[in-house]
Amino acid sequence: MKTLFGELADGTKVSSWFLENGGTRLRVLDYGGIVQSLEIPDRDGRYANVSLGFDTIEDYIAGSPYFGALIGRYGNRVAEGRFTLDGENHQLPLNDGAHSLHGGTEGFDRRVWEVEPFTDGPDVGLHLYLTSVDGEMGYPGTLEVKVTYTLTGGGDWRIDYEATTDKATFVNLTSHVYWNLAGEGTGSVQDHELEIAASRYLPVDPGLIPTGEPADVAGTPFDFREAKAIGRDLRVAHQQLLYSKGVDHNYVLDKGLTARPEHAAGLRDPSSGRTLTIATTEPGLQFYSGNFLDGTLVGTGGNIYRQGDALCLETQRFPDSPNQPSFPSTLLRPGQTYRTTTIHSFGC
Ligand code: GLA
Repeated sequence: MKTLFGELADGTKVSSWFLENGGTRLRVLDYGGIVQSLEIPDRDGRYANVSLGFDTIEDYIAGSPYFGALIGRYGNRVAEGRFTLDGENHQLPLNDGAHSLHGGTEGFDRRVWEVEPFTDGPDVGLHLYLTSVDGEMGYPGTLEVKVTYTLTGGGDWRIDYEATTDKATFVNLTSHVYWNLAGEGTGSVQDHELEIAASRYLPVDPGLIPTGEPADVAGTPFDFREAKAIGRDLRVAHQQLLYSKGVDHNYVLDKGLTARPEHAAGLRDPSSGRTLTIATTEPGLQFYSGNFLDGTLVGTGGNIYRQGDALCLETQRFPDSPNQPSFPSTLLRPGQTYRTTTIHSFGC
């Protein structure tokens, strides 16, 4: 079901699409492919919206920290917004201090996508299409992007990303949902129990660019191999936590890059019993503990979002890969198809 959500300054209409299947309810905007709300039941069957967002398009435009959005052309940071490809230098807009973050000032999160609903057996969903022209936000090549959101008969939310280009370029697409399984606006997620299937993570420099050498999580606050409360080690005086005001790091998933989605992470809110598990084809997972939420935004339910009121688990290739030859490649050439899949499963 499609309804009018709002209008952009130039008069472009923004629509909201509502999907429900297998007990999961999803509201998606064509603006940014934003998941505006995602509702799931708790152990007593009570529904809550477990994803941070806004009520109006004006709020999204004015300053959303990527709430629920599709991220592209490049998820996370590219150092100094620069890379060299086939001998040519490229400069991206800098929107994160000295660096380029999440595709630049006008990333895919701020574009209006073309949306086509579908039904496929027990599944329902939306195809989202976007063309990013050669040179847009400094990236070479016209990129044709197709993202499919599927709500399966079992209530899973599956994302399939696809892209092709007419010139060599770098691509790293992800989804930037802020999770709070107790319900958005209910306070901190520090009691949520998180498990990440990664023995290593990527330490960063003070500008949050990976230094390049993965480090063992063993014996550090970054160890989530066994589920533990998010808040347990967040105040440990570890240099890496100081740089990012919490966790904002790419985990190197033990499974690596896989042809099929495999387990990456699990999250559980003890108060409601709601659970989320994430499987992906991607080798990386950015765990961001909502460090930059600072009490200046009022969310969907009318409550203020403060630091640590949600967390993001962004499946991806590693940050700054265009400048880090030892990382799995994010290079896409004409004739190739970029394809990745991430599945979010809910329970209680
Ligand atoms: C990612 C980045 C963070 C931050 C958030 C959005 O997780 O790594 O540093 O930019 O997105 O605020």
